[in-house]
Amino acid sequence: MLSSDFSIAYHYDTIFTEGVFEAGNIALADVFRSLGSPSPIRVLVLFERQLLAFYPNLAEDIAAYCEHYPDLLLPASPPVPVDGGEAAKDMDVAMNLCHLLLQARMCRQSCLVIVGGGALLDAAGFAAAIFHRGIRQIRIPTTALAQADSGVGVKNAVNAFGKKNLLGVFAPPLAVLNDSRFLRTLPPQRIAEAAAEAVKVAMIKDVDFFAFLQEKATAIMADDAAAQQAMVKRSAELHVQHIATSGDPFEWGSARPLDFGHWAAHKLEMLSDSRLSHGVAVGMGLLIDTKYAVLSGLIPETVFQALKDLLAGFQLPFCSAHLEQRDSQGRREVFAGIEEFREHLGGRLHITLPTAIGRKIEVTEINGDRMEQAIAAVIAECGEGQPNSNQA
Ligand SMILES: NC(=O)c1ccc[n+]([C@@H]2O[C@H](COP(=O)([O-])OP(=O)(O)OC[C@H]3O[C@@H](n4cnc5c(N)ncnc54)[C@H](O)[C@@H]3O)[C@@H](O)[C@H]2O)c1
Ligand SMILES: [Zn+2]
Repeated sequence: MLSSDFSIAYHYDTIFTEGVFEAGNIALADVFRSLGSPSPIRVLVLFERQLLAFYPNLAEDIAAYCEHYPDLLLPASPPVPVDGGEAAKDMDVAMNLCHLLLQARMCRQSCLVIVGGGALLDAAGFAAAIFHRGIRQIRIPTTALAQADSGVGVKNAVNAFGKKNLLGVFAPPLAVLNDSRFLRTLPPQRIAEAAAEAVKVAMIKDVDFFAFLQEKATAIMADDAAAQQAMVKRSAELHVQHIATSGDPFEWGSARPLDFGHWAAHKLEMLSDSRLSHGVAVGMGLLIDTKYAVLSGLIPETVFQALKDLLAGFQLPFCSAHLEQRDSQGRREVFAGIEEFREHLGGRLHITLPTAIGRKIEVTEINGDRMEQAIAAVIAECGEGQPNSNQA
């Protein structure tokens, strides 16, 4: 018998900064400096094309930044604009990105810098992870959701065959740089989407953070920059802490606490052809699983009400149309999300449910009748026309 036994240590920093491409900002340069390379690192910067509407000089700023650190950075080409948004999470797009990497003659010592929302980070991160069996990536998330959750973790994926994140890899970044300036141009809806993930992680891990969100929801939605940054930072911290300390960063096991509310969210996104954003769908998923926890006797109804009020405070819309979609047997189509989630986890189903604000358990079975009751109750209480539905 030949036994192979080895482990690989990972380390990456999530850096909070402002004006990441200003020449005097050394945060990004320091990431390259930390590699200790005797020669400049070949770098390709991809940025989300849609950002040009808000930052018309972005390409020039990035190019000027690279020129400012010639001993550290060797740009393979001028920064490349690419389309972002959920449509970018597609295998053909990832292949095109790999082609860009090839044309830029990127090698395993090179580094891809990705500037954009969570969708582009997922797709380009995936391309980086498969190109030459994996090249380094630095993420510069530009949405609040990506800074608070998706951009700071280790997962990269594209959607395929009607399934969210079906094709992907675990590939930690070299570093993540969260530039608070990008938050300034986000419309309220995008801030609310980040709040959904912040509420998610607060519900299962941090009662004080939940209280903070209750206190600051109005300020956050009224564009209070300090409150928005505090939300993003604490959410990112809780996500990163979980990944680094849970003992299962690459999700070999079946428990997925950070996917609280996500079995329904992912299915709703797919049922809506991605017209429901991830953040909005997560808000709905949290309500469903929390109501289920109430009906299971795990938590009092007051917790559901607190969650509902908090999500309403963030003006997160509740759209019942896709929850009402039925298959030929009259079953709600969203229910297929449970089976798909089980297949995704492998092994036994694990669904995270709250047992108090800031605490959770994993259950390995979902009672179909009770879940039906939960969904019907959530639609009745939060659906269109209800006082807290806050339709967008
Ligand atoms: N990898 C993970 O661990 C993980 C975790 C959570 C979510 N996700 C994924 O993240 C994706 C959602 O990411 P998202 O919410 O960032 O959405 P997104 O990437 O689709 O971006 C939303 C919109 O914001 C715009 N935008 C980006 N930055 C902007 C800025 N600074 N100012 C103004 N507009 C800006 C984009 O152009 C886009 O139209 C989903 O695909 C979800 O599945 C991944
Ligand atoms: Zn999510």
